[in-house]
Amino acid sequence: MKKNVALITENFHHYIPPDLAGYKHFGGFTALKKALALSEEDLIERIEDSGLRGRGGAAYPTGKKMRQSKAYQDDIKYLICNADEGEPGTFKDRDLLEQDPFGVLEGMVITAYAVGATHGILYLREEYAHLLELLQGAMAAMRREGLLGQGILGTALDFDMTIFSGAGAYICGEGTSLIESMEGRPGRPRNKPPYTKAQGLYLKPTLVSNVETFSAITAIVKHPQGVFTGYGTQKSPGTKLISLCGNVNNPGTYEVPFGLTLEEIITELGHGVAGDKGIKFVQVGGISGPLLPRACLKMPLTYEDFDAEGLSIGSGAVLVVDEDTDILDFLDAVAAFFKHESCGKCTPCREGNRQLMNILKRMREGTALPSDPENIQRIAHTMKYASFCGLGKTAPTALLSAIKYCPEEIFMRRGQ
Ligand SMILES: Cc1cc2nc3c(=O)[nH]c(=O)nc-3n(C[C@H](O)[C@H](O)[C@H](O)COP(=O)(O)O)c2cc1C
Ligand code: SF4
Repeated sequence: MKKNVALITENFHHYIPPDLAGYKHFGGFTALKKALALSEEDLIERIEDSGLRGRGGAAYPTGKKMRQSKAYQDDIKYLICNADEGEPGTFKDRDLLEQDPFGVLEGMVITAYAVGATHGILYLREEYAHLLELLQGAMAAMRREGLLGQGILGTALDFDMTIFSGAGAYICGEGTSLIESMEGRPGRPRNKPPYTKAQGLYLKPTLVSNVETFSAITAIVKHPQGVFTGYGTQKSPGTKLISLCGNVNNPGTYEVPFGLTLEEIITELGHGVAGDKGIKFVQVGGISGPLLPRACLKMPLTYEDFDAEGLSIGSGAVLVVDEDTDILDFLDAVAAFFKHESCGKCTPCREGNRQLMNILKRMREGTALPSDPENIQRIAHTMKYASFCGLGKTAPTALLSAIKYCPEEIFMRRGQ
C-alpha cells in the first residue's frame, strides 16, 4: 500500500496562494463547475457514496449531514468552516489553509450549493491570524472571477463568505460554543437539540464542518467517481491527513490512505523515533485521545479498528512519545491543559479536572493516598458520563488509558 498519497493535498507546493490562476492551472474550480452541473440531490448522493466522514473529530457522515441541512429551509442559511484547530498536536488544517486555501473555499461553495446556504463564514483560530491576509486575498480573487457573490459562474447560486477571528479558547472549536462566541457571548456549548443544522448562528439553520472535510469534498467532486474510494478500506474509504509530531525524526502533515498501521506511519513517514530511542506510547487523536502502548502500533488506522477498541481517530494527530518521557509529567501537562480550558459551565468537568490535577500532583510528589486509584476511577467515570460536552467527557481519557496499559508506571514507580 502506498504510504503517503496526494489527493486532498495534490495542490500542495504547486501554486503560491492566493494566486487564483495558479490554482486553476492545476484543475482548480473544475469541481465547482461539475457540482453546479449536477442537481443538489445528485451532488449530495455523490458525497454520501464517497463514505466521507467529518474530519473535525466526531466522524459524522458528511453526506448525511448535508442532506439533513438541506431539509431546513429559511431565508438565511449559514455555512461555517471550522478552522479553530485548537487540539494540541494538530496542525493539518493550518497546512491546508496555507498551502491550498482555494481547495477549502471551493469545497465551501460546493457545499453551499448542495444545502442552499446563503452566507459562509470561515472561523479562523486566533493564533492563525497570520493567515488572515492570505485568506482575504483568496476570497477577493474569487469574487473578482465570479466564484463568490451573486450568480456564481452564471448560475442562480448567490453565496459569499467572510472570516471571523476565533476567540482563542479550545472549547470554541466545539460547534455550538463556536456559534456562541460569534454571537458575542462566552464560548460555552449549547443544549442540543435544537441542532445547529436547524437553529445555529442567530438561530438560523447552520452547517458547521471542518477545514479538511471541505477540502475532501472538492477532491471527491473533482475526480471521477471511485478515485477517493479507491483508497482506504470498505468501511473507511479515502484518505486522512495526519499531524505527526512529538519525538519523531520527520514530523509533519501526511496524507495517508486509511488502513496504514501506526507503526508504518511512524517508521516510514516519520523516519522513526529521534535519537533511535524506544517508543513509550503514542497518543492518537489529540490531547483528548488515549495513550497507546507499543503493542498497539500494529493497529490499522481505520474507523472500524479504532471503534472496535473503543478508541477514536479524532482530529488525526499522532503524537509519538519516547521512552525517556516521564508519564506522570506528561499526564500532568494534559490535566493542566484541560483544567485551563474547561469553560466552567458544568460541575463534572470544572471540578473533576481540578481534582484529577490534585491527585496527579500527589502522585508526582509521592504523597498519593491509598484511595487515589479509586478516586481517579470515580471522578473519571463521573466526568465521562455527566459532563455537558466532549471536552469534559474526554479529559480523563489519557489518564485512564495510562492506568490501563501501564499501571506500574503510574502507581508503583514512586513507592505507592
Ligand atoms: C472540545 C471540542 C473541541 C473541538 N474542536 C474542533 C476544532 O478545533 N475543529 C473542528 O473542526 N472540530 C472541532 N470539534 C468538533 C466540532 O464540534 C464539530 O463536530 C466539527 O467541526 C464538525 O465538522 P465535521 O463534520 O467536518 O467533522 C470540537 C469538539 C469538541 C467537543
Ligand atoms: S464539559 Fe467542560 S467544557 Fe464542556 S460544558 Fe462542561 S465545563 Fe464546559
